[in-house]
Amino acid sequence: MTILVTGGAGFIGSNFVLEWLAHSDEPVVNLDKLTYAGNLENLRAAQVNPAHLFVHGDIGDRTLVQQLLDKQAPRAIVHFAAESHVDRSIHGPREFIDTNVLGTFNLLEETRAFLRKIGDAAREAFRFVHVSTDEVYGSLAPGDAPFRETSPYSPNSPYAASKAASDHLARAYRETYGVPTIITNCSNNYGPYQFPEKLIPLVILNAISGKPLPVYGDGGNVRDWLFVQDHCAALRLVLARGRPGETYNVGGASERTNLDVVKAVCALLDEAKPNRKKDHAELISFVADRPGHDRRYAIDAAKISRELGWRPAESFESGLRKTVAWYLDNPEWVAHVVSGAYRGWIDKNYGKRGPA
Ligand SMILES: NC(=O)c1ccc[n+]([C@@H]2O[C@H](COP(=O)([O-])OP(=O)(O)OC[C@H]3O[C@@H](n4cnc5c(N)ncnc54)[C@H](O)[C@@H]3O)[C@@H](O)[C@H]2O)c1
Repeated sequence: MTILVTGGAGFIGSNFVLEWLAHSDEPVVNLDKLTYAGNLENLRAAQVNPAHLFVHGDIGDRTLVQQLLDKQAPRAIVHFAAESHVDRSIHGPREFIDTNVLGTFNLLEETRAFLRKIGDAAREAFRFVHVSTDEVYGSLAPGDAPFRETSPYSPNSPYAASKAASDHLARAYRETYGVPTIITNCSNNYGPYQFPEKLIPLVILNAISGKPLPVYGDGGNVRDWLFVQDHCAALRLVLARGRPGETYNVGGASERTNLDVVKAVCALLDEAKPNRKKDHAELISFVADRPGHDRRYAIDAAKISRELGWRPAESFESGLRKTVAWYLDNPEWVAHVVSGAYRGWIDKNYGKRGPA
């Protein structure tokens, strides 16, 4: 038995792979293109583990995906691979369509073909977990009820639209072809190994080096926050016991304004580095809002809690404390990411050709 993970060198995917190997003996094949967001240093602990096979490649590469499925015969796919940064999608949406829409389409097509080749029992047991975002639901007004699995799709950024399209494809492949897809829509994740273009690591790293802490608009945009390991636990449950054809919303019941998040990081850094002359919050700098900036997201996670017994183990406060501590304790990882040196990791560890 083995599972195939896509995008397992990124933020959530690498946390998932590391946790998978810690929780299970079942091998994991990890297909990742290693874009700027993919970092094999995240997987340092898995590198020597024979249960982890890294494959450098694109989910959009039809031949590669077909050969990988035929050769590895996974019992499940957990699909993380995506372009994931909203700001980048505003400046250059094409890669988001290529990977998130066409890449997912390719993966579903090849999965459909693979399922035709395997026996009834293996097909019955197979699962395709499609990892998606709460951003597909659009924006909430202050008093609105949180998003449920039945909330209408209303994506506002090219990123959200590309994820919405991939969700629709995942659903359609179940309805039309019987590919046993399960969709998860999760709120904002934070935790170890997050690339410092996203709010929390950006603020931690800027604050440590005394740089301005950019906050969009008035800082009043609200997001629900979930510690990444809680998301990984939810995905393991969905894989084990989720029902094909269903969608599960995953969230931390931790709505915070961006400004509150930034201030919370600053307070933890003040505590960790008490000798600084100024409070870190003095570095906060409001910048022009981004276009189509959703005002509020909130998730109703009652279904996954009721059906699968999932609950987050971390509060926002405890998860954020762990996250700040992780970035302070891992200066080498941070330095390599900031300098771009993490890209040399492939050559150094696998030779010029890259991992097989
Ligand atoms: N980060 C969040 O807060 C969040 C919340 C909910 C859902 N999600 C979803 O979870 C998934 C993972 O998010 P993340 O934050 O870890 O993203 P990330 O940007 O950190 O990682 C994405 C990974 O996918 C890889 N990748 C990109 N294009 C690829 C391709 N064509 N073929 C193979 N690999 C490719 C990258 O190299 C990288 O390792 C995404 O699908 C995202 O939409 C993220």
